[in-house]
Amino acid sequence: MSQEDPSAGRRKRKPYIAANWKMNLDRNQALDMIKTLKARLGDGDDREVAVFAPAVYLADVAAVSQGSPIGLGAQNMHWEENGAFTGEISALMLRGVGVDRVLIGHSERRHLFFEKDEWMGRKIRAALDHDILPTLCVGETIEERKAGKAQEVIARQLKTGLEWAQAIEMSRVTIAYEPVWAIGTGETATPDQAGEAHGMIRDWISDRFGAEVADDLRILYGGSVKADNVKELMAVEGVDGVLVGGASLQPDAILPIIEFDK
Ligand code: 13P
Repeated sequence: MSQEDPSAGRRKRKPYIAANWKMNLDRNQALDMIKTLKARLGDGDDREVAVFAPAVYLADVAAVSQGSPIGLGAQNMHWEENGAFTGEISALMLRGVGVDRVLIGHSERRHLFFEKDEWMGRKIRAALDHDILPTLCVGETIEERKAGKAQEVIARQLKTGLEWAQAIEMSRVTIAYEPVWAIGTGETATPDQAGEAHGMIRDWISDRFGAEVADDLRILYGGSVKADNVKELMAVEGVDGVLVGGASLQPDAILPIIEFDK
């Protein structure tokens, strides 16, 4: 990457709009939403769009989204291929129903279900081994931010999450910065806060995997993204896309986010 033009990397990183439905929508609503997105989206040339659906709908959503550029993701997975892990789903199973990506370490998994930092490294490894694109979610709580520990927490989550990943595989990895205090609260990170965190993450990736990997990596922002703040967030240097929760549940809310610059 040429050093004279720091924005060149950004231009080549395709904007990525991801919808995380969490534990929402009934089956008909989920399928209607995919039909609407499929009908509305073009060929996906200028932006990438993906939906992270509840596991029980994945096979049906895959059938409906077939033939469209919409990516289909799971919200979590286990690192083993199979075994006595009641309630868990493996990468092998996800692949089998047409899933091509997965969220790893979403803050709700970490904080509500006490998933451990070190599990994320194994999950990322398993996703890469099974040809599933992982998005590693990182972000600090409000207490950690107030204590001046945000960067330390993010660095620890990056270190443990990417422990078993190699530089050559990093083109298949996405990072999502989701400050816990901004998720579902209506309080969005300011452009300065988002820019600072994304810059820190890219620097960390550069130190660990090299400048070229860092330059190619897409880093999404998540936390109360809405139609009326997406443009401002997407304008921040280092913000390459958004991971949307609440505003991804109705077509009227998500479509203007997907089409933020149109
Ligand atoms: P909200 O958009 O509802 O704040 O959720 C963000 C999120 O957690 C996406 O993964």
